[in-house]
Amino acid sequence: MTNLNPIHPRRLLLFSVRPNPQDFEQDHSANSQLGYIGSGWGSVSLLKKLDTSNYNVIVVSPRNFFLFTPLLPSCPTGTIEHRSIMEPLRYIIRHKQSAVKYYEAEATKIDHARRVLKLADLSDVKGEVSETEVPYDYLVVGVGAENATFGIPGVKEHACFLKEITDAQKIRTKVMDCIETAMFKDQTEEEKERLLHMVVVGGGPTGVEFAAELQDFFEEDLKKWIPDIANKFHVTLVEALPNVSVVLPMFSKTLIEYTESTFKDEKISVRTKTMVKKVTDKNIECEVTKPDGTKEKQILPYGALVWATGNAVRPVVRDLMAQIPQQASSRRGLAVNEYLVVDGTDGVWALGDCSATKYAPTAQVASQQGAFLARLLNSMAQTQELESELKKLEDLQLQAAETGDRETLDKEIQKKEKSLRRVKQLSPFEYSHQGSLAYIGMDRAVADITWFNGNFATGGGGLTYLFWRSAYISMCFSTRNRILVIMDWIKVKIFGRDVSRE
Ligand code: FAD
Ligand code: NAI
Repeated sequence: MTNLNPIHPRRLLLFSVRPNPQDFEQDHSANSQLGYIGSGWGSVSLLKKLDTSNYNVIVVSPRNFFLFTPLLPSCPTGTIEHRSIMEPLRYIIRHKQSAVKYYEAEATKIDHARRVLKLADLSDVKGEVSETEVPYDYLVVGVGAENATFGIPGVKEHACFLKEITDAQKIRTKVMDCIETAMFKDQTEEEKERLLHMVVVGGGPTGVEFAAELQDFFEEDLKKWIPDIANKFHVTLVEALPNVSVVLPMFSKTLIEYTESTFKDEKISVRTKTMVKKVTDKNIECEVTKPDGTKEKQILPYGALVWATGNAVRPVVRDLMAQIPQQASSRRGLAVNEYLVVDGTDGVWALGDCSATKYAPTAQVASQQGAFLARLLNSMAQTQELESELKKLEDLQLQAAETGDRETLDKEIQKKEKSLRRVKQLSPFEYSHQGSLAYIGMDRAVADITWFNGNFATGGGGLTYLFWRSAYISMCFSTRNRILVIMDWIKVKIFGRDVSRE
């Protein structure tokens, strides 16, 4: 157990300010501000558990909703409607004890020296003010990561990504456009083949899950409603390494082989040892490593390309890192200590995909970090309160020394000291892995589940269906989300997926 002291003591004092909610509404700058940026897994988990009566909380994010990413790969195909996995931030904020301010904006710069956040309203509708600054006393950075493209030419211009709801909508439109264009009168056979070739680059869990969902869509619905594409529609998964990586490196070889053989059954082509080097509007240029170790350049004509090659550091985070000498050697994001305090700062924390820790960048890690930070911030506020109560009691005790009536006060002081010791002790953050799960198509999933003491694969059929779907349902943000997701699944079972473009 380590004493909770990642913060400068003078700053700690500021946490004791309990703002009058009315003052807060009128003038945020009058009190200490806890700014935090992002509305993803890390930030929302923190917000859920934070006692907001202790702070002036300001949330900044361009996305005014929480997104349940584990079911995002199901959105482009229409298995899940996008609204079913969104939870408006306003709902979450309204349920808090005290007022929380939300600004729909992007943090364009964190001015570390001035302790100021620069914000820009990047929405299509702009008022007279669309750029401003927010001062903060304490800051939690939870902006996640952006899509890694490794500077490969043509990726940003021609590929779709899969990180946000808008990405899922773009993929949907692109796939359906490719299909309808392939069906255009007098289209050549060669062009049909290109247009109906769906390529997913990146054999990590995002790529694997999306390729599986797309193939399900084709087998269960597209084929039925547009039979002319049946012989030509084709999904290819491209991976630079010798294997797809499914979920986490801890996944056993057996599960990786199981995934690859399931993909074979589903007729998804898996091209491993294939590194994409360049993308044009119609072709993907790859370098393939052959069994004898030699390299060969290959061209893959494609219709739609989904790029899922992992995470890269966001510009706002890169800029913050450049302002802090202690961050010079960090590459994957903000280096933090065991209490998630950003190295080289005080009163600035980072969590989730924008932080560089020994853990994988997953929702599970981000949400546990959020809950930990809430505990830490709540404890800090309680500490300050207890310290000031103790100080008052000690003053009374001094006065009582003169009258001789000290017994009750002594007891009270001992009680407070005990509470203070308890509150001040907070163990460093430690991740507790609850297992991972990935959908691989045809109602099959792979999982490493801690209760089963290791890796676990589920075959098709009713049990699988119940197992992986109930796991996702239990993880959904709210009852409303759970009901909407269940209704989507039932709808798809009864009516199939919609094949309209939007
Ligand atoms: P995010 O959840 O990405 O949130 C970042 C937030 O910051 C967003 O609200 C964003 O709008 C906001 N933001 C961005 N830039 C700025 C800025 N400049 N200023 C202000 N706000 C900003 N993990 C699992 O454990 N299990 C899964 O099954 C799983 N499935 C996934 C499926 C997909 C398709 C993807 C893409 C990821 C999946 N993950 C999964 C990973 C998981 O989603 C991430 O690890 C998790 O979202 C990280 O949480 P975060 O809070 O760090 O960032
Ligand atoms: P990832 O980093 O896990 O995988 C990306 C893959 O792309 C790697 O295998 C890499 O070798 C490959 N790649 C990189 N450049 C390439 C190139 N030029 N050509 C071909 N292949 C290339 O990324 P992913 O899948 O986006 O996952 C990001 C994070 O989100 C991970 O931590 C993951 O665990 C988590 N996640 C978890 C899920 C789950 O638990 N079900 C689902 C989705 C994401």
